[in-house]
Amino acid sequence: MCGIVGYVGEKQALEVVVAGLRRLEYRGYDSAGVAVIADGELQTRKRAGKLINLEDLLGEDPLPQSTNGIGHTRWATHGAPNDVNAHPHISSDGRVAVIHNGIIENFSELRAELEATGIAMMSETDSEVAAHLVAVELAVDPDDLVGAVQRVCQRLTGAFTLVISHADHPDMVVGARRNSPLVVGVGKGENFLASDVAAFIAHTREAIELGQDQIVILRSERVDVTDFYGNPAEVNPYTVTWDASAAEKGGYDLFMLKEIAEQPKAVADTLLGRVDGAGRLLLDSITLSDEELRSIDKIVIIACGTAYHSGMIAKYAIEHWTRVPTEVELASEFRYRDPILSPRTLVIAISQSGETMDTLMAMRHAREQGSKVLAICNTQGSTIPRESDAAVYTHAGPEIAVASTKAFLTQVVACYLVALYLAQVRGDRNPEEIRAIADDLVNMPSKIDLMLDTTEGVRGIAREFANSTSVLFIGRHVGFPVALEGALKLKELAYMHAEGFAAGELKHGPIALLEDGMPVVVIVPSPRGRDVIHEKIISNILEVRARGARTIVIAEEGDEIVTPYADWIIRTPECPSLFQPLLATVPLQVFACELATTKGHDVDQPRNLAKSVTVE
Ligand code: AGP
Repeated sequence: MCGIVGYVGEKQALEVVVAGLRRLEYRGYDSAGVAVIADGELQTRKRAGKLINLEDLLGEDPLPQSTNGIGHTRWATHGAPNDVNAHPHISSDGRVAVIHNGIIENFSELRAELEATGIAMMSETDSEVAAHLVAVELAVDPDDLVGAVQRVCQRLTGAFTLVISHADHPDMVVGARRNSPLVVGVGKGENFLASDVAAFIAHTREAIELGQDQIVILRSERVDVTDFYGNPAEVNPYTVTWDASAAEKGGYDLFMLKEIAEQPKAVADTLLGRVDGAGRLLLDSITLSDEELRSIDKIVIIACGTAYHSGMIAKYAIEHWTRVPTEVELASEFRYRDPILSPRTLVIAISQSGETMDTLMAMRHAREQGSKVLAICNTQGSTIPRESDAAVYTHAGPEIAVASTKAFLTQVVACYLVALYLAQVRGDRNPEEIRAIADDLVNMPSKIDLMLDTTEGVRGIAREFANSTSVLFIGRHVGFPVALEGALKLKELAYMHAEGFAAGELKHGPIALLEDGMPVVVIVPSPRGRDVIHEKIISNILEVRARGARTIVIAEEGDEIVTPYADWIIRTPECPSLFQPLLATVPLQVFACELATTKGHDVDQPRNLAKSVTVE
């Protein structure tokens, strides 16, 4: 949700900033813009549409060389995605440039105040007020850019990352953050600001997390961090564990294809060091005491989108292994229904980015009610794990494609690990049982690898449905969230009507959607599991086939009972029922990716979306 880059150093700022924006474009691609300072003047270029449009403009109308630059890719909230609303926004005197991520909630009143003094707004954005306010505050002391930014931040409400440059201060870029991401990259003779480390990873792996309500003053030789009142703030430096190649396509046509292929490794990395030779779970990062974990009488999982589906799978595992009642809730709904929380409730917040505002606000609400929050997250240094009582990181590496793939599988694995750890600490399962389950889990990466062998076949099946208008996905037990995830992938990538259902629910209404020839994807549970579920889904397949549906069936190797009822069949290796989502989801990702490609859509950057949703 908007990508931000700032640079001060010896290199050509424009090159550094544009390269950074290229790596952040997944965060928003409605427009892009840059500003540099050269010869005491601020110069900007901005253009609606993808970054390539801005690059074309820079080719036609180049900017001068500079050692100070800022840049922005936008996901529009206030105002249409056009050239004027693109960032940076400039103060009326042409001296201040501001880029912004988030929503300034009191912008109307600030706008009215500025207009009353004769300042004309150029754009429809909430962001532009920040540029004018900084210029107004600078009138107090034209040399004190930092003081001006501090005073402006004190007045803003809502969520904001601001990055500001000023024509009279070519030696610095000033950043500020509240409820919106911003990290510092620390180089030699150069420093960086960005929404995400991917923007500067080609230059440095040394980073600094910024806390809530902090201001950072970036110069080529130093980085200073204060609060909004100028008091020095504590910072948390860290080294990024992956390198620039992890954020490249690495020979694949699409980031999504690369990320699907990386899933066996991502899952293996997430398991690494977390199960010892005796099958005991080692989760040191769960810093909650054993006593606290034993006292839990309810678990509430909060997440959005794909992460929510991983939470739905977690519920089955947690309740089965620990018998602790577990609820799963969309983070965007959670705090508005007055949820019942207590210090004995453990809230698990799942988020790839660690910045999803809906999830962040939900977990803050839970903490205010006295509950402990455990984050499952893929992004080191992000807000959600930082504000949680404990965190378990997934080790999927950077996920660039907007549609989540490897993050999902690793979230599911992290949930299994947490569930088993709880069972171990609380004594809900004996060590032999835990060891047997952990052994099966550790074997899953090689089985996921086998699923990649189905890719070509699945692509062929997908192409059969390029002209379909609607696809249904059905499953039971943990196959139900898999069905939801398959449908979500298809919606967001192929822009097709797709719905996921608990297979048993079809007859309660949705079966009316069925038309002759409509594709129905069925996630079939193992016949080795609870017979009754397998039998029931066979009945559900018969019901849809009787109404003309064509069935694409995902079933375990050796399950021949289902074969006569499948128009197409995709096989999964044998595994425990609870782990089936780790296998069954893979072909659904490939299915959606291929349909989107066949339809000519931009798979990595689907329309209207952004990777990290930092507004509510
Ligand atoms: C799914 O493919 C999406 N990109 C989306 O649903 C995503 O999972 C959701 O926005 C939550 O993001 P998070 O994991 O970063 O919190």
